[in-house]
Amino acid sequence: MTANASVGGELHVGGVSVDRAFDALRRLEPGASACYLYDLDQVAERARRFQSAFAELQPLVAYALKANSLPAILRVAREQGLGAEAGSVGELELARAAGVPPGQTILNGNGRTEAEAEWAARAGVHSVNADHIDELDLLQTHAARETAPLRVALRVNPGIPTPGHRYVATGHEDAKFGVSAEDALAAWAARARWPHLRLDGLHLHVGSQLLEPGPIERALEIAFELAVEAAQRGSPLGLVNLGGGFGVDYSSAQAEFPIETHAARLVAEAAGRELEWVLEPGRWLVARSGVLISEVLWVKQRAGRRFVVLAAGMNDLLRPALYHARHRIVAVRPREGAPEPASVVGPVCESADVFDADALLPPLRRGDRVAILDVGAYGASMASNYNGRGRLAELVIAGGALRRARAGEQPADLLERTSDDVLDL
Ligand code: LLP
Repeated sequence: MTANASVGGELHVGGVSVDRAFDALRRLEPGASACYLYDLDQVAERARRFQSAFAELQPLVAYALKANSLPAILRVAREQGLGAEAGSVGELELARAAGVPPGQTILNGNGRTEAEAEWAARAGVHSVNADHIDELDLLQTHAARETAPLRVALRVNPGIPTPGHRYVATGHEDAKFGVSAEDALAAWAARARWPHLRLDGLHLHVGSQLLEPGPIERALEIAFELAVEAAQRGSPLGLVNLGGGFGVDYSSAQAEFPIETHAARLVAEAAGRELEWVLEPGRWLVARSGVLISEVLWVKQRAGRRFVVLAAGMNDLLRPALYHARHRIVAVRPREGAPEPASVVGPVCESADVFDADALLPPLRRGDRVAILDVGAYGASMASNYNGRGRLAELVIAGGALRRARAGEQPADLLERTSDDVLDL
C-alpha cells in the first residue's frame, strides 16, 4: 500500500490532491515554494501491520524517532500503541510530550551523557542500550539515586556486513557501535558490580535500509548463541533488542523488507525461550507516508541536458547527497508530452545538490510542481538551515482532512538565537 496515487493523472496523497494541499499552504504561507506532506492514516496502518506481524512475540515496538519526530506522527504512533526509541534528551522529551510512557521508551546512542543517564534513571525508561562497558558506571551512578533499578542491554557489535551504502551499515567490525561479544559476556557475568542496574539485555542493530532479512536473521542466531553462553556462565539474559533496519525499496512503490515472513520466522525461533523482545523500526513505518512537494524554479538546457532546478534543496532532503539515495520524482500534474531525461537539482551552492541526475520526467515549466516520493523517513528529520534556508512546513492528512503540523521557517527565524551576551571569563 502506498500513500500516493494518481487520480485522473494528478498526484494524490491520502485521498487529497497534492496540488490543492500546496495551494492551501500558500494561503497560510504565501512565500512557501516547497513543503513536506504526510499521510497519517498510512502511518497508522503500517504501525498496525508491523505489530500484528510480531504479535505472538509480544515485543515492545519502539518507533525510532530519528526517522521522523514530527509530533503529529508521534501521536499516531502512540495511538497505535507503539513505544519510542530515542537517541538524545531531545528525543526523550519529544516522546514524553507525545504521551509515550517512559516504561515504553528505549534510550540508545554511543555517546552517553550525564544528562541522558539522569533522565533515563529518573523517569524509569524501559531500558538503556549501553555502547561501552565504562558507560555502565555512569548509568549505575544515576540509577543509585532512584528506587527502581535501571534495565540495561549491552549493544554487541556482531561483525555482520550488510549490503547498501556503508554509511547506514552499523554491525560490521569497523563500525563505531557496540562492544565485543566477549566483553559483553564478561560484563553480564560480573553484573553484581552494578547492583542498581538490571544488566540482562542484549542489543543488536546491524544496519538500516535492509531489503532482505538475512543480516537480521544472522544477528538472531548470534543472539541465541550469546544467550546460551551467558546462561552457561551463570548470567542468563532476559531481554533481546533486535533494533530496526527494515527497509523500503526507493525504486518501486511495492518492494520492501518482508516483515510478515521475517516475523513468522522470528516467532518460531523464539518459541520456548524465556526472553522479552524489543524492536526499533523507523523507516519501514514512515518512509512511504511522506512526499516532498517542490516548485520548479527554472528549467535550463545545456550541452543536450535538461536541468530542472527545484525550490527544495539538499538542506531539505539530504539522502541523495549523503548516501546517493535515489528517490522517485514525479510531476504533480503531468503536462502532455513524452517523458524525457532530466537532471533534477536543488538551488544550494553545492555540486552534490542533485536529487536525480537521471530522472525521466514529462515537460516541465517554471512554476510547475513535482513531488519527491518516499521521504517520510530521514527527510525532514535530517534537514538543516544550510545556505540560510528555513526548514520547510510539514503538512499532514488524516481522514481526508489537511493540517499544517509545523510551520515553515521564515528568514527572520534564522536570527532567532543570535545574541550578544557577554560571558564572564
Ligand atoms: N535502532 C538503532 C540503534 C538505530 O541506530 C536506528 C537507525 C534504528 C533503530 C532505526 O533504523 P531503521 O528501522 O529506520 O532502519 N539516515 C539514514 C538512516 C540512518 C539510520 C540510523 N539508525 C538514511 O536516511 O538512510
